Amino acid sequence: THRSKVSVIGSGNWGSVASKLIASNTFRLNSFHDEVRMWVYEETLQSGEKLTDAINRTNENVKYLPGIKLGNNVVADPDLENTVRDANMLVFVTPHQFMEGICKRLVGKIRADAEAISLVKGMEVKMEGPCMISSLISQILGISCSVLMGANIANEIAVEKFSEATVGYRQNRDVAERWVQLFYTPYFIVTAVQDVEGVELCGTLKNVVALAAGFVDGLEMGNNTKAAIMRLGLREMKAFSKLLFPSVKDSTFFESCGVADLITTCLGGRNRKVAEAYAKNGGRRSFDELEAEMLQGQKLQGVSTAREVYEVLSHRGWLELFPLFATVHEISSGLLPPSAIVEYSEKQVRSF
Ligand code: NAD
Ligand code: 13P
Repeated sequence: THRSKVSVIGSGNWGSVASKLIASNTFRLNSFHDEVRMWVYEETLQSGEKLTDAINRTNENVKYLPGIKLGNNVVADPDLENTVRDANMLVFVTPHQFMEGICKRLVGKIRADAEAISLVKGMEVKMEGPCMISSLISQILGISCSVLMGANIANEIAVEKFSEATVGYRQNRDVAERWVQLFYTPYFIVTAVQDVEGVELCGTLKNVVALAAGFVDGLEMGNNTKAAIMRLGLREMKAFSKLLFPSVKDSTFFESCGVADLITTCLGGRNRKVAEAYAKNGGRRSFDELEAEMLQGQKLQGVSTAREVYEVLSHRGWLELFPLFATVHEISSGLLPPSAIVEYSEKQVRSF
């Protein structure tokens, strides 16, 4: 048959919600096979049961998304090769630091006609320069890759509260439309734009700004200061994206993946939450320790992204052009105290 077969690589907090959204559509629409195979990075629960077995027994991701039924057509699979074997639509959604290893394991294991989409917010920095996760997928696996980003706090979408998202595609509008069809529901409105880099950089860079917003919250500096940080952060997001990729469109920053994701993450995201605790503790407890304690296995993307952005800035001599991004890394790596965000913002606001 010509029905598309979808696999999801990843099953964390957002990976599980994405599987639920997708499974509701593959079940409903004739152009897709019902079954959605979801790769699980296997672990043993405190009860002694394997996470995969628990997901398949209860139809819930009991660790990363408890209380939410994924749909009976979601099948958890701990075997990466087996997960992708029959699929022609591959959805990547793991913390970005694991993506390179996963792609390398998939070389030679995927269908020749496979297409990919990345929901991963992050980048890798190579000797040659920064590499967005969608490019990593394309380069290692030799397949085309779109992206889906947006103001999408997973726990809110899990209970079907309304949100929007943005698909970024490179050339083929038909491919983009199929991805939109796969994700679109009455409570998850997806719009496609022809700007992969712009969409992906928005999703990636807003995590750095969210750390700054969290520091401001931890220092109890108030909403006006936080709004100032968000404004300056958005400006650096746009400038950085355009310096790296001149093709990035201004209009992308007004899509869900841009200003809306920045707002929701600075209000309600995990990066914000852990950065607030970091500042409250005066930087005496490390991000790794706070992440493990507060997120129970879920992963922050902002701290490593701030470091990756800093590497790019220092290699290219751009540090002075991006004082917010640079200051966030200097704080999160312990070079500066959290209060440096105050001095930073006062100086910035005065200089404009
Ligand atoms: P998560 O933060 O819940 O991370 C936990 C996942 O990482 C688990 O599935 C765990 O098994 C897996 N993992 C741990 N160690 C691993 C390893 N060594 N190799 C492979 N996997 C390992 O993940 P998430 O929330 O699904 O986030 C995935 C991506 O989606 C991130 O880039 C994130 O920024 C993005 N995102 C998240 C949200 C959200 O609200 N959670 C919303 C939009 C986008
Ligand atoms: P956090 O990882 O900070 O929770 O952000 C989630 C997100 O990307 C919302 O769109």
